[in-house]
Amino acid sequence: MAGPPDARLHMTLLKAWHAWLAGAFLVAYVTAGEDAYRIHQFAGYAVLAAVVVRAVAGLLIAAPTPLRLPRPSWRATRDWLVARKGRHPLFALFATALLVVVGLVAFSGALADGTPWLEDPHEAIAEASLWVIGGHIVFVTYMYAGTKWLKRIASRLMPGNKESAS
Ligand code: HEM
Ligand code: HEM
Repeated sequence: MAGPPDARLHMTLLKAWHAWLAGAFLVAYVTAGEDAYRIHQFAGYAVLAAVVVRAVAGLLIAAPTPLRLPRPSWRATRDWLVARKGRHPLFALFATALLVVVGLVAFSGALADGTPWLEDPHEAIAEASLWVIGGHIVFVTYMYAGTKWLKRIASRLMPGNKESAS
């Protein structure tokens, strides 16, 4: 029974899950390497659990709902490049890259817990993940707000446009 109410519920679940993941990541990052190691450990494992829950839920769900795992596809990318219509392929690509990279950060942290030589690789992966996360935030901000701002600015700059009068 995958009707619209289900889709709305799944969207809400996905937003709650996103808050769990991003919130725990932020806490793990700011408590790294300080006296707050217990909090770092707790938040880091919360990130690992979030990634595992998302992967298991996404793999179990076959129906096309927002909870299905994002699947980057070369064919979809090619079609989008030709037609410039539909969902931007970078959504699926970023979602997959984030799940893999953030999962690796948390997993390497769990391994580093009992294996000191893994602390440096864990730190390096954590720092590198910030580039993917930064790219993600810039991309979603642009897709959801930036395109509207650009249209508004263009309509003001374009002579002869109705909105340029105000
Ligand atoms: C200000 C910070 C952030 C904002 C505004 C933001 C916003 C978003 C939005 C709007 C989406 C849905 C994109 C879509 O339409 O498909 C999304 C998806 C996602 N975000 Fe973020 N995000 C932020 C931070 C983070 C952080 C810190 C992480 C990782 C630690 C993260 C990981 C993800 C993942 C993995 C997805 C894909 C979810 C899925 O479909 O499985 N985000 N984000
Ligand atoms: C995704 C979540 C995580 C992030 C963003 C993260 C980030 C970091 C960073 C940046 C450092 C380097 C700190 C420094 O030396 O300045 C670090 C160290 C460390 N992290 Fe994590 N980490 C995460 C998850 C975990 C988990 C799950 C564990 C397992 C318990 C863990 C265990 C460690 C250990 C043992 C160190 C070395 C501590 C030290 O230098 O004294 N981390 N982490």
